[in-house]
Amino acid sequence: MSLSDTLAGKRVIICCGSGGVGKTTVSASIALEHALAGKRTVVCTIDPAKRLANSLGLDRLDNEPRPVPASAFAEAGLDAKGGELHALMLDTKRTFDALVERYAPSAEIRDTVLANRMYQNISSALAGTPEYMAMEKLYELTQSGDYDVLVLDTPPTSFALDFLEAPTRINHFVASDVLDKFLRPYFRLGHFGYKMVQKGMGRTFQVLEKLTGLEVLREIADFFDAFDALFDGFRERADRVAELIRSPDSVFMLVTGPRPDTLAEGVFFYEKLVELAMPFGGFVVNMVHEPFDRGKRFAKTIDKLRGNVKSTKSDGAVGVQLLRALAQTYRDHEALAEREALYLEDLRGRVGQKNLPIYRVPFLDDDVHDLSGLKQVADQLFRGD
Ligand SMILES: Nc1ncnc2c1ncn2[C@@H]1O[C@H](COP(=O)(O)OP(=O)(O)OP(=O)(O)O)[C@@H](O)[C@H]1O
Ligand SMILES: [Mg+2]
Repeated sequence: MSLSDTLAGKRVIICCGSGGVGKTTVSASIALEHALAGKRTVVCTIDPAKRLANSLGLDRLDNEPRPVPASAFAEAGLDAKGGELHALMLDTKRTFDALVERYAPSAEIRDTVLANRMYQNISSALAGTPEYMAMEKLYELTQSGDYDVLVLDTPPTSFALDFLEAPTRINHFVASDVLDKFLRPYFRLGHFGYKMVQKGMGRTFQVLEKLTGLEVLREIADFFDAFDALFDGFRERADRVAELIRSPDSVFMLVTGPRPDTLAEGVFFYEKLVELAMPFGGFVVNMVHEPFDRGKRFAKTIDKLRGNVKSTKSDGAVGVQLLRALAQTYRDHEALAEREALYLEDLRGRVGQKNLPIYRVPFLDDDVHDLSGLKQVADQLFRGD
């Protein structure tokens, strides 16, 4: 099945996979393909490589979608035919802040939470928060009604698929191990509880206060007080996010690399997606080394080089040495390409589904840092053999 068929009618395309395999590149390429087909498209990226960010017009860190300028399309010789490509770079903290603003029952509670130092640390540092916020942003963008197709690039946290369990995720957040074990029993009762604990724990508390500073303890107490008020709103929202990503409008694409370790991680992710009943679209195996000699390019190149060595008056021995080194590089490359082909065969066997789509993108000569590069990847994905 072609990738166009797999993605037909999908509004939300989520690209996940382990670190460095090309999730951002593939996400942006899929978004570009849709924009070139006349759709209003947005790609929500996570920390794109600097040069790609620049070419997408994301040179400033920005949590809101920005249109990729017409000049960038013109420069790449592309015509969007009325389609639009917007891009944003997810800012976990700002997305979390927006969520607090939305669900705080009063301005006072909102300000208490936002100004709280404990919240400030948790909102950017707690494990799983970036994944959860990526989903949250996705939901916000679908609700805006501004886009036909949304592509989500997910954070490079291999094996952390917590975001798929968004409703429980937010529970985990409030009841995370650290909070639960050390702090929550003491401070969940807010100021009143805090006073009681202060009294009850007597000397221990005094020492604790000395060590951490009274302010810190008070902030923790305040945090739980205020945060409890947001909890129901968060959970309800998380349920809606979970509903969206499980709906037939959504599809997960698993990006992976052609090596045994990344493929093994890919299979792990795949099994997790199946277990969680997520809509699965297929694997994208990126940066595959294709056999170089498909068009007998190597033989031609060597012939040419032999001719060059003969015609130059330089030391022939050096020329021969170079030719040998080149031949060795060629053999190494062909062996690598052969091994990768075997790994890909093995992937089919391991996922146990014969007709599971596997899309390949070759390792391109240059890294992908502009619209032309993204178009090249899109051509391979959507029209490659
Ligand atoms: N098919 C390809 N051929 C050549 N270079 C590629 C290809 N795909 C991606 N790259 C390059 O590989 C690097 C990593 O790609 P990318 O940033 O998309 O990976 P990622 O999975 O998003 O990484 P991270 O997990 O760090 O977010 C980039 O420099 C990109 O330009
Ligand atoms: Mg990335």
